[in-house]
Amino acid sequence: MSQPDRSPSPLTLTGKSQPAPAAAVDGTWLECIECGETFAPFESVRYTCDACDGLLEVRYDELPTFDDFSGTGVWRYADALPLEEGVTTQEGDTPLYRVPRLETDIGVEALRIKHEGMNPTGSFKDRGMTVGVAVARELGVDRLACASTGNTSAALAAYGSRGGMETLVLLPAGKVAAGKIAQASLHGARILEVDGNFDRCLDIVQELAARGEVYLLNSLNPFRLEGQKTIGLEILEGFRDDYGTWPDRIVLPVGNAGNTSALYKAFRELVQAGELAPEEVPKLTGVQAEGAAPMVEAVENGADEVRRWESVETKATAIRIGNPVNAPKALPGIRETGGTAIAVSDEEITTAQRDLAEEGIGVEPASAASVAGLRKLREQGVVSSDERVACLTTGHLLKDPDAAAAAGRDPEPVPADTDGVLEVLHE
Ligand code: F0G
Repeated sequence: MSQPDRSPSPLTLTGKSQPAPAAAVDGTWLECIECGETFAPFESVRYTCDACDGLLEVRYDELPTFDDFSGTGVWRYADALPLEEGVTTQEGDTPLYRVPRLETDIGVEALRIKHEGMNPTGSFKDRGMTVGVAVARELGVDRLACASTGNTSAALAAYGSRGGMETLVLLPAGKVAAGKIAQASLHGARILEVDGNFDRCLDIVQELAARGEVYLLNSLNPFRLEGQKTIGLEILEGFRDDYGTWPDRIVLPVGNAGNTSALYKAFRELVQAGELAPEEVPKLTGVQAEGAAPMVEAVENGADEVRRWESVETKATAIRIGNPVNAPKALPGIRETGGTAIAVSDEEITTAQRDLAEEGIGVEPASAASVAGLRKLREQGVVSSDERVACLTTGHLLKDPDAAAAAGRDPEPVPADTDGVLEVLHE
């Protein structure tokens, strides 16, 4: 008996491309990942499906190949994005560092660090904002908002200001690193400190958006994830140019699972364009802090849904998140690529932060989670010694100066004369 002819889920790694539906404008449209409903991209403001409230994705009838890309930074990949240009401060084109000592120490064939902390505001969020803020301008909205553990607020404030728009950010009081608040503040965002965690901030800002008060630029916004796809494209091109092959695995920190979703989408589109075979897609491997690990729980239990953790804690405040809103996009990504997810302790994160610092790479705690997770998976034998791996480090060391100072060496007081200094040096 033959199998019933079921069309594959839109989130699988098939080579199937789609014809443009009636809602498409210039071959671009929004589509619900749950029910398949389609919407025109820039006609009205919408973050989720009108019919079933499912997450939306930006879809294209024509998908580019690597040969179609030219120039540098995020806008090198304009053919894979919903607009031709954005509100930009030259984001993207971040380094893919070799780390020979760490590579040997962890014990993989090749290890590269994609340091997203080298973006203009010091995190990967700039890639999403250059697209998201441009879409906001296209839609004609005047007030942008986000909930944030810090980095999104810094990027929103900078890009919103550059685009001439008002910005509002909701932050969990007492749980955002100093560098990030300083950025949001100087770039002119109105900062509201909420007496609750990030997930509550996001609940509130979603309600403000639903009431038409603000335009939402959290990663629920499908346009932001389009910009973040370029991380995956850059990793593939960089790895190929440096090492001659694609990486087998990409390890990344997970909070709202926006990057996991965005990288998976980038790779699905490359499969559809005929650039990658499904088995060549890097295994997406997510890392969370033990105190905020709902995605890891879902992956370990083989669950289709993620349980919201009401109480979360970790020193990696950027990923202190209990309700990863992009889980319906990210879970299929981890499964379909043969990846996995793992939780690491704050201590393991600090060790990895020091390991990277020894290679001259300064990252904030959440970023180091990727390297901590890789080390742990290698020790467990989940990652094998012949793998070629890229770890994503998402934010710069200076974002969280207190964490860096606590993980590093203490300054030593000395008298103000050379003999006194020598005495201390020779102690
Ligand atoms: N790393 C850093 C440094 C982050 O700031 C974030 C998210 C993540 C990782 C997680 O990425 O959500 O795509 O899984 N920060 C958001 C913010 C929540 O508000 O800055 P994700």
